[in-house]
Amino acid sequence: MNFKNPLIIANWKVNPNTLNEAIALAKSAEQASLKNKNIEVAIAPPFPFITEIASVLKKSRLAAQDCFYAGGAYTGEVSWPQLKSLGVEYVILGHSERRSLLQEKEEMINKKVQALLKLRAKVILCVGEKKREEGFIPEVVGEQLKSALAGIKKQDLKNLIVAYEPIWAISTTENSIPDTPESAFQSLIYLRKKIAGLYDNKTAREVRIIYGGSVNSKNIKSFIKEGRMEGALVGGASLHVQEFAAVIQRASAS
Ligand code: PGA
Repeated sequence: MNFKNPLIIANWKVNPNTLNEAIALAKSAEQASLKNKNIEVAIAPPFPFITEIASVLKKSRLAAQDCFYAGGAYTGEVSWPQLKSLGVEYVILGHSERRSLLQEKEEMINKKVQALLKLRAKVILCVGEKKREEGFIPEVVGEQLKSALAGIKKQDLKNLIVAYEPIWAISTTENSIPDTPESAFQSLIYLRKKIAGLYDNKTAREVRIIYGGSVNSKNIKSFIKEGRMEGALVGGASLHVQEFAAVIQRASAS
């Protein structure tokens, strides 16, 4: 049984190429979000589009795809106060593409998670293994969680969301296949146990856990119903107007 409305986050990554396309995508997502109750929608556009997208969204929330842990002399980075001043509420941290393609290490992810939770950003922490292991979730996922949360106090976890994103299921991974809802459910139990081990059962129950990896309008419902996931981080499917509207509609109906 899910106690919270599903949270659907559109992770646009470095797409689309133009502001006009981005506005069209955001308008359509906003319409779908307005039409469907019992659902929270957030859009994570590329940084250059955030201001314009903010003016399109009313019900849907704004997310950032990353954020640095401080402001000042860090050429090329962006800080939470800057993003917050544009209306951003959520921030994705530790995405597998940043971990693998941009060499972002556990220590950096931990610094960001610590700083942003302290600043009361809603942090979407991504964890997930590279290779599929039949029947169990490799310990590396628990280790990612542990190191990202090192030094973080229980009271700062209120705004933490964990996104389980197995890399082998992400649509841009070669030969990717979506996880099954049954195995996603096992991952959810695994993650809750890990959080309970780091903190306690009550805290573990209160952390929202969502799924990411080739989510589309056909499988979203089963990830929520059978997988008991409390939302999804949607990449590829969020770049297609009708498909993303259908994801929102099905998630709302589940
Ligand atoms: P995908 O991406 O939905 O295209 O698999 C998910 C993600 O990388 O966050």
